Amino acid sequence: MTEAKLISALNEENLSHFSKTYVPSRLLLGPGPSNAHPEVLKALSLNPIGHLDEAYISLMSDVQELLRYSWQCNNRLTLPMSGTGSAAMEASIANFIEEGEKILIAKKGYFGDRLVDMATRYKAQVSVIEKPWGEAFNYEEIKYEIETKKPAIFAIVHAETSSGVLQPLDGIGDVCRKNNCLFLVDAVTSLGALELLVDEWKIDLAYSCSQKGLSCPPGLSPFTMNERAEEKLSSRKTKVPNWYLDLSLLNKYWGSDRVYHHTAPVNMNFAIREGLRLIANEGLENVWSRHNINAKKLWNGLESLGMELHVSEDYRLPTLTTVKIPPAVDGDGFRNHLLGNFGIEIGNGLGELSGKVWRIGLMGFNSSEENVDRLLNLFDTELKKYSIFESSTF
Ligand SMILES: Cc1ncc(COP(=O)(O)O)c(C=O)c1O
Repeated sequence: MTEAKLISALNEENLSHFSKTYVPSRLLLGPGPSNAHPEVLKALSLNPIGHLDEAYISLMSDVQELLRYSWQCNNRLTLPMSGTGSAAMEASIANFIEEGEKILIAKKGYFGDRLVDMATRYKAQVSVIEKPWGEAFNYEEIKYEIETKKPAIFAIVHAETSSGVLQPLDGIGDVCRKNNCLFLVDAVTSLGALELLVDEWKIDLAYSCSQKGLSCPPGLSPFTMNERAEEKLSSRKTKVPNWYLDLSLLNKYWGSDRVYHHTAPVNMNFAIREGLRLIANEGLENVWSRHNINAKKLWNGLESLGMELHVSEDYRLPTLTTVKIPPAVDGDGFRNHLLGNFGIEIGNGLGELSGKVWRIGLMGFNSSEENVDRLLNLFDTELKKYSIFESSTF
């Protein structure tokens, strides 16, 4: 054996100084990820099995059935894509847009912008309608835009994590069908937490993530598409320009023959099966109601402490609350204090709301009365320490 010449900084002596992997304990009450459920963590730590093993194939079918329940749909092609929410987001664009095709994107925050960016990269003809961060679109506006612009796809974010807005989706599916357009919904911050009825609302394509309502770590992006979307996919004139996210290839693994496409992240699929099983056990309507009740408790508590919420109650998002940072308060200082001294994470504002709001998430396993009480108590006792002016009130 030839004597290997190791890079000097990576010799054995240096490497042996590393301690075992350690991660501090955190309560994640920000925009995501949220804490994983303890049962999910147990499933995650099981020894991997082969991704073509009969036992795993059967687990895949369970995941698909449980996902259909959470999505409230009967779509054949319902699967957890490998990757975070952005993977299925990109798949929704890459598979259903061909160069020059029209997509209409209703943008009211950061994630609407991401859809625009992706659609532009796939050379769509992109039209955008916009609302300020903190407002929602109304049905009439959307109907008018779809009828006049006649896009092949209409895309909208259901739960805008950047602004804290819940977008009503009633009736939009019908408008899309009448105008021969696919209805694409970003449900990253709503699946498994808020009312979402894919079949009833005539949503053709939807994607989400594992790290919020499903109480899992990040790493999978649930996706579903109906027969209208399947027809559009099969009538493509050109190859899907992204191999990893090509749904006609993924269909062969998840949809029919269980033929190898890529090595499935098997442990993440153990985890999502468990997260989805817990939702089914609790019952979807109970899960939705738990999220609504805990969010209202948080909103009332913050308001009774004199804080102002960024979004009007009509469109306020129960999974993610944007609360205004009082002008007299050092917002980053308070956030860092919560993290450093109490192990609790809340989020800063994103994009144009940076420095103006904090983002408080109550998602999945973390949406509990106990967590709301704990956080409100800290707002009550600790916030005054971060007031820039000693005698200020909020
Ligand atoms: C509404 C929305 N869409 C898309 C994404 C992207 O998901 P991910 O960060 O898991 O890739 C996020 C992330 O938080 C989101 O909140």
